Amino acid sequence: NLIRGEFSIQLSTRDYTIIQQKKKHYLENSIFLVIVREQKMSFLTIFLMVLLLSGFGEAASIYPNTATVDDARQKIADVIDGNVKNINERPFIAGLVRLAFHDCVGDGGCDGCIDHQNPSNKGLLKYTKKLDAAFDYLTSGTMSRADFYVLAGYVALEKATEGKGGSEVFNEVPKFGREDCPTSPHEADGANEVFPDAKWNLPEIEDFFASEFASEKSGFTRTDVAAILGAHSLGRASVSNSGYEGKWIQNTHRQLGRAHSDVLDNSYYSQILRDADNENLSNHWRQINVVSGTNKQWQRRNNINQAATFDAENFPVNNKENQRNMFLNVDMCLRWDLNVVDSTTGEALQAGDSAALGDIQGFAARQGGNEAFITAFGSAFEKMVENKEDETLI
Ligand code: HEM
Repeated sequence: NLIRGEFSIQLSTRDYTIIQQKKKHYLENSIFLVIVREQKMSFLTIFLMVLLLSGFGEAASIYPNTATVDDARQKIADVIDGNVKNINERPFIAGLVRLAFHDCVGDGGCDGCIDHQNPSNKGLLKYTKKLDAAFDYLTSGTMSRADFYVLAGYVALEKATEGKGGSEVFNEVPKFGREDCPTSPHEADGANEVFPDAKWNLPEIEDFFASEFASEKSGFTRTDVAAILGAHSLGRASVSNSGYEGKWIQNTHRQLGRAHSDVLDNSYYSQILRDADNENLSNHWRQINVVSGTNKQWQRRNNINQAATFDAENFPVNNKENQRNMFLNVDMCLRWDLNVVDSTTGEALQAGDSAALGDIQGFAARQGGNEAFITAFGSAFEKMVENKEDETLI
């Protein structure tokens, strides 16, 4: 082959797909030029048409090669593992998953831009600071920041599911080719981006996710909603960021020896449903006033002995004993249909079973529930990060 002037190289499937895509682009352009030549158009007409067809003024997608992706993965992993708190907690796991979600909301889809002035994004700055510093070490122009943020979500999820059967789902390289907003990493018109309200009930959340993340190819179903909210098995809320306080899932994961708030698993669902069949304990959950805040959050009574003394209005949220599980309306509405009676505080009445109850019972099941959850979460997360861009991403 070399004598005939040919040579071959070994390509990964990803690199091969990228080359095919680029070849298609050039082929389409040359066919266009032949048509133009045959039509004997004026030079000016041709010039204007070429400008139009080549998407003048639009930023082109960048498709990173395998080496760049591997390098980026390593840099992200270093950021996560380099920031360890007590009980081996790695808060960047939760932070980077939340960042991927917030970056994908809004007209531009996932666009490598966060408006830190938007109150809904409070708490994300400490994560973007370190992640952006890692991004700056990549060779310039080899990957968009939007792709880097999405990849960071995947690397975090891979770590969050180590030992929990999800690593294989999340170590698959996601599709790439997202474009950054012109002012990346800052979002210039981010004040217009509307994020979901933690006081919402299920129908509002379903509408929000369907309008943000459903594509022609795939809708965003109730099961997707029930699954993606399981991200709240990670991390915590802080009054200073959101007006809520505490972790959804507390303590250390005994089998894994890691902080539970770093582990993505179905404990989020089993906690919501805990003791649901025990008549005496069937309704463990009460809404309490968040200390030094104006909101109400759901808190679980620790044990039956508290039944007599349980005072929802004055529940000591900052008392370690009682700090166990904190849930928001948007979490609790997967268990009960909520009738929100005060839109300022989020005070809500439990108005019968939620339409998503069947979904969360499936995810909470002892046999196969976690696998079902991880699979459903992976599929919903993929819809979120592809965010209607079925055509451009490879
Ligand atoms: C109805 C939709 C949602 C609402 C209203 C909501 C609301 C919230 C709130 C209020 C916090 C606390 C923030 C703080 O105080 O620092 C939070 C944290 C978090 N959210 Fe959501 N969320 C939603 C959906 C999602 C989705 C779709 C994901 C990811 C796929 C996600 C992942 C997280 C994570 C991982 C944290 C913890 C962050 C940390 O520890 O730094 N959330 N969310």
